[in-house]
Amino acid sequence: MLFGEFVPRERAAALARGRGPGAEGLLQFDPEEVGNAYNRRPFILRHRLTEHPLLTPQALFSLCRRLPSDYVKIRRGVIPGNAHFDSSYDRYRDGLSLEETLEHFEELKAYICIYNPERDPIYRPLIDSLLGEIAAAIADTDPVVTWFSTYIFVSTSGAVTPYHMDREMNFLLQVRGDKEVLLWDPADDEILSPAEKDHLLSGFGAWRPIYKPSFEAKAMHFDLRPGLGVHHPFIAPHRVHTLDGLSVSLAFTFRTLKSDVATKAHSFNEVLRRLRMSPQPIGENEALDHAKAVASNAVRVPIRLWQARRRVMYSRTQASA
Ligand SMILES: [Fe+2]
Repeated sequence: MLFGEFVPRERAAALARGRGPGAEGLLQFDPEEVGNAYNRRPFILRHRLTEHPLLTPQALFSLCRRLPSDYVKIRRGVIPGNAHFDSSYDRYRDGLSLEETLEHFEELKAYICIYNPERDPIYRPLIDSLLGEIAAAIADTDPVVTWFSTYIFVSTSGAVTPYHMDREMNFLLQVRGDKEVLLWDPADDEILSPAEKDHLLSGFGAWRPIYKPSFEAKAMHFDLRPGLGVHHPFIAPHRVHTLDGLSVSLAFTFRTLKSDVATKAHSFNEVLRRLRMSPQPIGENEALDHAKAVASNAVRVPIRLWQARRRVMYSRTQASA
């Protein structure tokens, strides 16, 4: 299932012309910091979401009860920081129902991730405001937001979001409670090699590079308290720890024309690697990356057909085994 929402070009252009940085919005971007650090390194920003009536635990629990169950992911207990991220909700749910979780939230050490609150008509205007402010803030640096998806996390002290990386950018905004966010530099070849990045962004399955203990010394630490947020550059690996008390945070993840070009170029590199070639890493030659992104569009359909054929052949093999 594809989460998130594509932004039509006309809407993206209108958003970029919207509220400028520094105005009385929900997010307080420093234009100089955005210009210097956006998508290069993480940075802290301030926001005004701490008193928002839709972001109290009570309002969020009501939202959980309204949304389809697929959009409310639950874990319980303290889980290891190197747990497998994608299977962690299934593995650590312990058969808990939503009602049990909400009623005994703190004693269960529960963790809830609400997918795409923007689908709820009451939450839609809030998320639209954030989209407009982010699009305007990055308009000079990374124009045209093409897609976005938001998540609200409600967690108790000791909760951990295991090490992983997402295939987009993010502003993680702390509304209540304290969190420690560890981020790693995606440009560091030890953390993410060029081949790993190509595979991560290729669309060949849901594989993500895993954590190694040697990474720990390279982590960048950020203490988030209510009213602060941290920018995650494109595919920057991260791990998040909830500190004292009940925590509420909102992640605004998004893609842009530039990140779409990078994704397609990585995807094309992956095809070259499967043909036993050693392509130039993405990010070293902008013109070549653009050409690879265009080429990626051309090979996408045959690759999808090839993948579908392989799946059919595999299922036939299994059926006859
Ligand atoms: Fe994440």
